[in-house]
Amino acid sequence: TRKELIKKYLDFFKSKGHILIPSEPLIPKNDPTVLFTTAGMHPLVPYLLGQKHPLGKRLVNIQKCIRTTDIDEVGDTYHHTFFEMLGNWSLGDYWKKEAIEMSYEFLTSKKWLGLDKNRIAISVFSGDKDAPRDEESVKVWLSLGIPKERIAFLKKEDNWWGPAGNTGPCGPDTEMFYWKDSELEVPREFNAKDERWVEIWNNVFMQYNKTKEGKFVPLAQKNVDTGMGVERTLAVLNNLDDNYLTEIWRPIIKRIEELSGKSYEKNKKTMRIIADHLKASVF
Ligand code: ALA
Repeated sequence: TRKELIKKYLDFFKSKGHILIPSEPLIPKNDPTVLFTTAGMHPLVPYLLGQKHPLGKRLVNIQKCIRTTDIDEVGDTYHHTFFEMLGNWSLGDYWKKEAIEMSYEFLTSKKWLGLDKNRIAISVFSGDKDAPRDEESVKVWLSLGIPKERIAFLKKEDNWWGPAGNTGPCGPDTEMFYWKDSELEVPREFNAKDERWVEIWNNVFMQYNKTKEGKFVPLAQKNVDTGMGVERTLAVLNNLDDNYLTEIWRPIIKRIEELSGKSYEKNKKTMRIIADHLKASVF
């Protein structure tokens, strides 16, 4: 269930020395560059830029988010305008090796999510004029047993996160995908364009500040910012390839069916859009 997933995530990172911070409002307090909180990092922007956080260098949370940029994707099985994001932070503390190792342990250990290692694929940043190719992350993934064919090098459009507005902290990321079609054999090679590979988690290595002039200036400290989508991960854990069939969305869909006298089966796209927009408006 949603609650069990959230509890496991928070417990796991608490066991690794992280302090729980609350979900901030959807109207950001600390980031004037965005209208809504689009990710767990907004409340932390001053701390990513170097200010000392009163609770320390390792934090964990579950953050309510609204992403208007995804609005045209809503109606498919896995995009939402309102969603919840689980995240762990290193504010100038651990870096790529530890971040990736913790992610992999949480995803695959029987004690935690216990996901099938054979259905995991990874993307990393391929490098450009602003930042080098991320060989360091690849080394860590290979050391954990991810085969070469399951690691894709992608460009800034796909493997770089932030800033959400025009300026602020950002950096290359490494993303974790899961093969969601339990009926079909998992392809040997990872193809990021195949939507049956669904992105469930992102580790961002925030080490730059994008300036007004569009320059990427190294930050005083290297940070880790991660985001795991609760709705997507819950679908994967329940072997469902439609987020709206999970317990998070089912009651809303059911009520829409009752009110409209129509079935979800025959009106999936419309009902997903109504359900998504209702929920976002309410929050
Ligand atoms: N800030 C990163 C994201 O939203 C983790 O994907």
